[in-house]
Amino acid sequence: MKKEMIVNPWEVAGDIDYGKLVKEFGVSLISDSMKKNLNSLHPLIRRGLYFSHRDFDKWLEAKSKGKRVSVITGRGPSDKMHIGHLVPFLVAKSLQEEFDCEVFIPISDDEKFYVKKDLSFEQSIKFSEDNILDLIALGFKPGKTFIFEDFVYTDIYKYAAQVAKRMTYSTAKASFGLTPEKNIGWSFYPAMQAAHILFPQFKRGKHISVVPVAIDQDPFIRLTRDISQDFNFEKPAALHAKFLPSLLGEAKMSSSDLGNTVIYLSDSPKEVETKIKKYAFSGGRDTLEEHRKKGGNPDIDVSFQYLKFFFEPDDKKLQKIYNDYKSGKMLTSELKNILIDKINSFLKEHQKKKEIAKKQIGKFMFKQ
Ligand code: TRP
Repeated sequence: MKKEMIVNPWEVAGDIDYGKLVKEFGVSLISDSMKKNLNSLHPLIRRGLYFSHRDFDKWLEAKSKGKRVSVITGRGPSDKMHIGHLVPFLVAKSLQEEFDCEVFIPISDDEKFYVKKDLSFEQSIKFSEDNILDLIALGFKPGKTFIFEDFVYTDIYKYAAQVAKRMTYSTAKASFGLTPEKNIGWSFYPAMQAAHILFPQFKRGKHISVVPVAIDQDPFIRLTRDISQDFNFEKPAALHAKFLPSLLGEAKMSSSDLGNTVIYLSDSPKEVETKIKKYAFSGGRDTLEEHRKKGGNPDIDVSFQYLKFFFEPDDKKLQKIYNDYKSGKMLTSELKNILIDKINSFLKEHQKKKEIAKKQIGKFMFKQ
């Protein structure tokens, strides 16, 4: 039997039906013609992990007319970061490279402090500081990329207050699944995130920003769009990603539930190897003989999905892996080894850049 689907920023459960979400949320699918214009963008967009949008066509059009556009996406620092957490940031970076625009990155340490029972105030600040280094290490442009933490850049409060006055409790309750036993931080936080989403316009004046996020974050965007005209702002656009499977193959990769079945950006080569070999859900057959004869299923194979969305940007090479795995020519162990090598060379670089990021922090934190 199908489990009831629940999708809001603080709860994702049941069998996810993306078609139904598109209808319920009133968003648009990313069309093939739109994708054609985005060919040089990150595989996450080209290859469809991002599947729906709001007004992204308007954002592209504004840019093509030479108008200011920007990108805003945030991070809730509840833990050290894993590969799944990179999804919106890789796309933000790719948009910055392609369109040379400013990127704003709010860090919602307050959000995670409110919603994670066991996260102390000190820990949430510590994770912010650590996560910020990971984000800088991705290679955003200094001078065009602005990071701020809610607990440190307390100026954000004045924008959140202006937003909060325009949001009713009943709207927030319905959109975010608020229930009476929750602390009241949950009720206020949506005003903070709406202030994040409007921040580029508060600071730079009226223009279109796009918010790349997983689809569960759309309620924040919907509410923000509803109040944006009160400030004489443009409605923010959005790009929505599906949930990335964990190594085990579940819908959403969440570090709190899945412990060591995610690849942390701090993992050692040995840890990566063990996790992929032991946990990465395989589309291979039970025996070597059967695999050679009938072939594997790359479409459900988690290692293949990770190559597709993150680690093999070359379409021809990816297609060859797909064909070889499907025909049985390539074994699961071979596929996994390709992924292990790719992840480890990415992490080696990343970990070096994270060290360097410690000295670059000043260039990236929003001031004023
Ligand atoms: N709430 C987001 C998360 O938990 C993080 C976030 C904070 C965010 N501010 C944002 C995302 C603004 C998009 C836009 O992942």
